[in-house]
Amino acid sequence: DGVVRIALLGCGTVGSQVVRLLQEHGEDWAARSGARLELVGIAVRDVSAPRAPWVPRDLLTDDAEGLVDRADVIIELVGGIEPARSLVLRALRSGRSVVTGNKALLARHGPELHAAVEQGDADLYYEAAVAGAIPVVYGLRESLAGDNVLAVVGIVNGTTNYILDEMSTRGLDFADALAQAQELGYAEADPSADVDGHDAAAKAAILASLAFHTRVGIGDVPVTGIRHITAEDIAAAQAGGHVMKLLAVARRTDAGVAVRVHPALVPETHPLAAVRGAFNGVVVEAEAAGRLMFYGQGAGGTPTASAVLSDVVAAAGHAMRGGHAPRESAYAQLPLLGPDAT
Ligand code: HSE
Repeated sequence: DGVVRIALLGCGTVGSQVVRLLQEHGEDWAARSGARLELVGIAVRDVSAPRAPWVPRDLLTDDAEGLVDRADVIIELVGGIEPARSLVLRALRSGRSVVTGNKALLARHGPELHAAVEQGDADLYYEAAVAGAIPVVYGLRESLAGDNVLAVVGIVNGTTNYILDEMSTRGLDFADALAQAQELGYAEADPSADVDGHDAAAKAAILASLAFHTRVGIGDVPVTGIRHITAEDIAAAQAGGHVMKLLAVARRTDAGVAVRVHPALVPETHPLAAVRGAFNGVVVEAEAAGRLMFYGQGAGGTPTASAVLSDVVAAAGHAMRGGHAPRESAYAQLPLLGPDAT
């Protein structure tokens, strides 16, 4: 009947923007995907909690499993491991494609999710899981599918970049800068995931897996966050012509793959030094392409919703016309090198 039924799981900062953009532009995207996109329900923990005014209350339900079972494409924006993991597996194993922004789930349970993709003959899309609006997942998975990636170096956490930037340019202290990042909707529900580098480590694991066609999990990524960085450290960096950044670094050598997250002094002249505020930047070095830089808004409701919706259009197109997103089942296990290797 040309209709693709969409279920939204979770309706926070990103989810409510997905609803708004679907309402405003759903018809354009219907034309692009060749399907009429119908939002059939929104699963939330508390149906009586306050919502953005455009969220249709009659679509709210607390029965997430029931909602999964009556949709064709599932958007998972619940975050965290459970119940997100069980819901995503339920969808994939029953042949329903999933669009997710859940980096923690991908970085902890990637192999299980990809096995479920094969089992159910579904697709798993996750552009929103890494660097918000920036098409870096597509870039690595599709644009560079015919090249060999040698290194990925990026600023992939908007909250910490915002904090470091506010500390260095406006002299804000750490706590005030973090409070602002929370107010602007950049920070994770538990901001220690940002500040201690675990959010960046999950993204580094996802990027390294894509870049090197291997399985890297969050447990493979040594991580140092920014909690210990002081105004004096930042001033000293500036005096020496450097900017303090939290970097995710993944490299391939003859011996294997090395992945790591740590604060680093970036020379003022380096392109990543120009990544300000909550923006993200990812430099990819590939054998034939040379250096590429991906840059844009890496956090926040609307930019991240853009990534979700591009995946929804792709998933709906596949649901209508057949075909699949690239599969990751053929990934090998490359040797993982210790932190000193990066
Ligand atoms: N808390 C994350 C960040 C959101 O600050 O980058 C996007 O994943």
